[in-house]
Amino acid sequence: MRIAVAGGTGKTGRRVVDKLRKQGHQPVVLARAHGVDLIENTGLDAALDGVEAVIDVADFGTMNAQKARACFGAATTNLLAAAQRSGVRHHVALSIVGVDRVPTGYYQAKLHQEELVRAGGVPWTILRATQFHEFADQILAQVPGPIAIVPKMRSQPIAVREVAAHLCTLATGEPLQMAPELAGPRVEWVADMARQLIRRRGQRRPVISLRIPGAGGKGMANGGLLPTGPGPRGEQTYTDWLAALAPDRT
Ligand SMILES: NC(=O)c1ccc[n+]([C@@H]2O[C@H](COP(=O)([O-])OP(=O)(O)OC[C@H]3O[C@@H](n4cnc5c(N)ncnc54)[C@H](OP(=O)(O)O)[C@@H]3O)[C@@H](O)[C@H]2O)c1
Repeated sequence: MRIAVAGGTGKTGRRVVDKLRKQGHQPVVLARAHGVDLIENTGLDAALDGVEAVIDVADFGTMNAQKARACFGAATTNLLAAAQRSGVRHHVALSIVGVDRVPTGYYQAKLHQEELVRAGGVPWTILRATQFHEFADQILAQVPGPIAIVPKMRSQPIAVREVAAHLCTLATGEPLQMAPELAGPRVEWVADMARQLIRRRGQRRPVISLRIPGAGGKGMANGGLLPTGPGPRGEQTYTDWLAALAPDRT
């Protein structure tokens, strides 16, 4: 099958592309590095020629509420319109568990993306997954200084490789609309994840966990980003992921 991967050069996307290749499919990368700009709406029609399914794992490098909404809004609208013109039979989008319960700006932008997919006229599947194991590292990178202040938050983190594999399975199947939520094997406090990562790197940096003010922070602290029902679960624990980190990645 010819399957387009929006964001196919990113953390999730490159693993989706690898997996599709191994399965004998023909991945088509939709990313600026491959001449396709989802926001500027350039290169899409040519790239989607002959494509049967699209997996959307693009991201736009912003947590700012307005920017994130504008980026996900424009990219999703352009992608779905081009997919309709090309006769794409299945649009699969990756979203996040709890986007409807935790009203932060980024999650509201993801919810907006979901609404566009639902109304977009292409048969669809939305997969909500939990945070990747890389999440604590991303948080630490955002908080400079000798002490790391991280949000009070529980997560059930998953290996991005397992998310990518699941997306490939979904894309080659029938559209499910809302797929069962995908999560990792264990619930963790994000502050503990950060502490373990710092230790693994042989560093010393105290971590303080603070509740983010407002409804979003309350939702995070109260488990709003954990799955609510049964669904597929990844195998690799955060501890296993840490142990497997290559020395140059720690
Ligand atoms: N991080 C998590 O814990 C987590 C958990 C669940 C779900 N998710 C979701 O997973 C998705 C993928 O996240 P990720 O961390 O894998 O993303 P990422 O590594 O930041 O990759 C982003 C991708 O989007 C592409 N892109 C950016 N701007 C573009 C544009 N204007 N036109 C075309 N392509 C563009 C980038 O390629 P170019 O720069 O070459 O254009 C890149 O391939 C996101 O939607 C995110 O919400 C993340």
